[in-house]
Amino acid sequence: MVSANANQLRYDGRVVVITGAGAGLGREYALLFGSRGAKVVVNDLGGNFHGQGKSNAADNVVQEVRAAGGTAVPDYNSVVDGDKIIQTAMEAFGRVDVLVNNAGILRDKSLARISDEDWNLIHDVHLKGSFLTTRAAWAIMKKQNYGRIIMTSSNSGIYGNFGQANYSAAKLGLIGLANTVAIEGAKNNIKCNVIVPTAASRMTEGIIPEILFNELKPKLIAPVVAYLCHESCEDTGAIIESAAGWATKVHFVRGKGSILRTSIDENVTPEYVKSVWDKVTDMSDTKHLNTITDASLALADVLEKLREGKFGENSVTESFKFNFKDVILYALGVGATVTDENDLRFLYENHPDFSAIPTFFILPGLLSVMGSNLTATAIPHASFDLTNILHGEQYIELFDSVPTDGILTTTSTVIDVLDKKSGALVITQSDSYDVNGTLIARSQSSTFVVGAGNFNGKSKASPEVKPLVPNPKRSPDTSVQIKTSRDQAALYRLSGDLNPLHIDPGFSTIAGYKIPILHGLCTMGISVKAVLKNFGADDSSLFRAAKVRFSKPVLPGQTLRVDMWKEPNNRICFRTVVVETNTEVLSGAYVDFKKIVVKPNMTAGKDLQSDAIFAAIKERIAEDEAKAKSINAVFHYKITDAGKVVKEWVIDLKSAKLYEGPVQGKADTTLTISDADFVDLALGKIQPQAAFMKGKLKITGNIMLAQKLSSIMKTEAKL
Ligand code: NAI
Repeated sequence: MVSANANQLRYDGRVVVITGAGAGLGREYALLFGSRGAKVVVNDLGGNFHGQGKSNAADNVVQEVRAAGGTAVPDYNSVVDGDKIIQTAMEAFGRVDVLVNNAGILRDKSLARISDEDWNLIHDVHLKGSFLTTRAAWAIMKKQNYGRIIMTSSNSGIYGNFGQANYSAAKLGLIGLANTVAIEGAKNNIKCNVIVPTAASRMTEGIIPEILFNELKPKLIAPVVAYLCHESCEDTGAIIESAAGWATKVHFVRGKGSILRTSIDENVTPEYVKSVWDKVTDMSDTKHLNTITDASLALADVLEKLREGKFGENSVTESFKFNFKDVILYALGVGATVTDENDLRFLYENHPDFSAIPTFFILPGLLSVMGSNLTATAIPHASFDLTNILHGEQYIELFDSVPTDGILTTTSTVIDVLDKKSGALVITQSDSYDVNGTLIARSQSSTFVVGAGNFNGKSKASPEVKPLVPNPKRSPDTSVQIKTSRDQAALYRLSGDLNPLHIDPGFSTIAGYKIPILHGLCTMGISVKAVLKNFGADDSSLFRAAKVRFSKPVLPGQTLRVDMWKEPNNRICFRTVVVETNTEVLSGAYVDFKKIVVKPNMTAGKDLQSDAIFAAIKERIAEDEAKAKSINAVFHYKITDAGKVVKEWVIDLKSAKLYEGPVQGKADTTLTISDADFVDLALGKIQPQAAFMKGKLKITGNIMLAQKLSSIMKTEAKL
């Protein structure tokens, strides 16, 4: 282990001037620098903390430094004669390496009671005194190409404090002074930083609560100042707050702000300022600018965007920052579960195929539109609030890469405003780009504003608005059921749509619902996820686009059935139905894939041999529908594996169709049989009666009809 001494920060040969070092913080600085080899000038006028009288405070501290083996000289000048203090240093030691502007007094009074003298004296000691002493040391430091300067500010300056208008103003002034000294000193290795202390001293006695006073020893701050003044410290222009053995950097930050006009040719009006005030004052996305040039560049950026017309009334640009937690929270919100091993890729950031469910990328556009005035500006004739707007339709398209974290810049634009008589339909398009400017996602969202129609607007959507696709007339190729949780909306809303309609029973009652309803986009997420599972191998990178219409609300806890049709061109059409009420909730919907991968087994996670038999039966029925229909019965098959029902099939011979269950409507006969026994039955290896007697086949409902079925099994399923 390296000994403490070898690592000790030393100041041998350095001359350190500390103003106001006769007491409090300054005294601790003097003792520390003195103990580490510096030659210390202990300046102190020796007055009381109001700046009156004189004493030999500086001498006492010089004695203390010397008693500890250090080198120090006293100086009794006021900082308003800063040049004389520097002269003392030059006469005693011939150079000045470090200047700690620390001297200070208080004249606390409420604003109206501050006399000119109170104001001037405070400014003279703190601001002007620091300036004059620094100016005197400046020439020496420049010449020797080395200097470390400290200004002493205060939280009173940064935040304000009752009764300290004079002091606050001077203390914040010191930050401005330090900022420029840091810039001007840069080329001569002169660093200037600000300390914002909180310490027990005579100045703060009675101000800081007693319980804290004993914890706030000035000694705990001295090492921070000492480090800032060491040759190894590269910081300059920093504000460092320290107290109680803790320190931090403090920054000014700037919000994103808002453009105050719709084009470069327009005037700013107070009304427009009022309308965007929330954005002007929004500090949720802030930035610290390092230099005044950065500040001007940001303004140039604003002007450029205005010139390009990117900030028209019908467009907003927002950034959307997300990481794996957002991706996982969204997945949980749309029903991803660890009980399905294929879902783990959506729930575990270290999974080799960790990915976002495609509909996650609706969020940046949605949140940017929700937080904007876009809808209001698009229909200036109408007034609306959360109770009379409905989410009409949603489209999402993903481009090549699908990230799981990053920052997306999303520009949302109103692309259509339609007059639907009973209301207005406002359609926005949101394009999300990554930091390299690559288009990641495009979404379109239509908002129906009830009662805002009849404004002589157009009624037909522009070609760029993606249309719905009606479901095919035939029965679905695949149907799956998903039970939503009673907490589904409570969980889903954490992804950003905090509308109380989905959580607050009082609010939803007013809106006319029994309980808070599920977000339409949650139903969409659940449904698209189901389609991805069945036709996209749970692989988000195979997803191209999806579109839905929200036709009816869903209540959390209800069961959704997603009916899917495989169509040409890698398209799966679907609809979503609430099973309990048999109500269609998502209509005209589809998912487009880059490639379709049919799930070999919808429910069991492995192939069932009976799948092929049902596929064959389906073909036979299609070949001779009339013959099939003559049997005129609906058979519901429950196929088991290891004693559990793993798949359901329905042979509906009333309408000559066969589909994967559950049954739509009513079955005449329900047959439960294991996968293996079903195959034996179909191959004629076992007779139905024997299977029934042996308990391999359970039949409920109309047992007689099962007789007819046995004939189809043999004659139709020729394997
Ligand atoms: P302190 O009152 O113990 O020490 C200040 C010293 O400055 C005194 O010894 C005083 O005689 C000397 N002084 C006053 N006027 C002078 C002048 N014109 N010329 C030369 N010396 C003069 O106070 P403390 O607490 O040690 O304060 C040190 C610095 O820290 C001050 O600038 C103060 O404003 C600042 N500060 C202190 C805080 C605290 O919690 N103690 C909080 C924020 C800032």
